[in-house]
Amino acid sequence: MDTAEPSKNENRADVSQRSDPWYVEWFMMCSALTLFLAYATWATFQGKDFKFGPYRSPFYPFDFSFWGLSPALFIFWMPVLFRFTCYYWRRTYYRVYFQDPAACAVPESKKNYLGENSFPFILQNMHRYFVILAMILLTLHWKGTLSSFFYQGHFGVGVGNLILLVDSSFLTIYVFSCHALRHLMAGRLKRFGCSQCSRTQYRVWTVMSMFNEHHGVWAWISLFSIIVSDMYVRLLSWGMIKDLNTWKIF
Ligand code: FES
Repeated sequence: MDTAEPSKNENRADVSQRSDPWYVEWFMMCSALTLFLAYATWATFQGKDFKFGPYRSPFYPFDFSFWGLSPALFIFWMPVLFRFTCYYWRRTYYRVYFQDPAACAVPESKKNYLGENSFPFILQNMHRYFVILAMILLTLHWKGTLSSFFYQGHFGVGVGNLILLVDSSFLTIYVFSCHALRHLMAGRLKRFGCSQCSRTQYRVWTVMSMFNEHHGVWAWISLFSIIVSDMYVRLLSWGMIKDLNTWKIF
């Protein structure tokens, strides 16, 4: 029979019993997310240097600007609504910024958190509708990527094209691994039928489930691939780097 005395902190709800360095993951997530938010805000408000040759930063699918505002401001609310209500990002920023809780089995810092059943967090449930915004974004993203293969009436391939292509692919995987979209596709069903349509639906759902398993990973990768794409276009337009391409024009 174990007669060991309980430690001083045992049974205290406000002290974590975890002995592993859980704060390392917290610190890394906090740094990476803060870095991204700072860069994205800066890039959105710049309003210049977002184009070079056939390339265009994914932050700027349009050129138009009213009252001298940055063109990115007309679109930035779409990814903000979609990403900030994403199940994975909710978990992440609740942890890093609200510490509610900072990690699994770590006590919460707030005692009056009412979950997502009351205002304002109940609005997070809008995510299922913001999937439509993600589809619009994805279309704009791919339009920019595919049109970058054509410049001055010629088809060509450059490093910039490949970077934009990879970025659009990661964004596509992130969006199609969405929990809400997966539910919409077939997650709400209790069982699949035997018709051809049901079989196709099952196949699509299976592929989505495969990516959905690592939704958090795609969320991070797609976040930083956007930064890499934007930075690449800016560095070209600042004349700091040269693009290797088949057009021989730069
Ligand atoms: Fe993350 Fe929908 S749950 S994008």
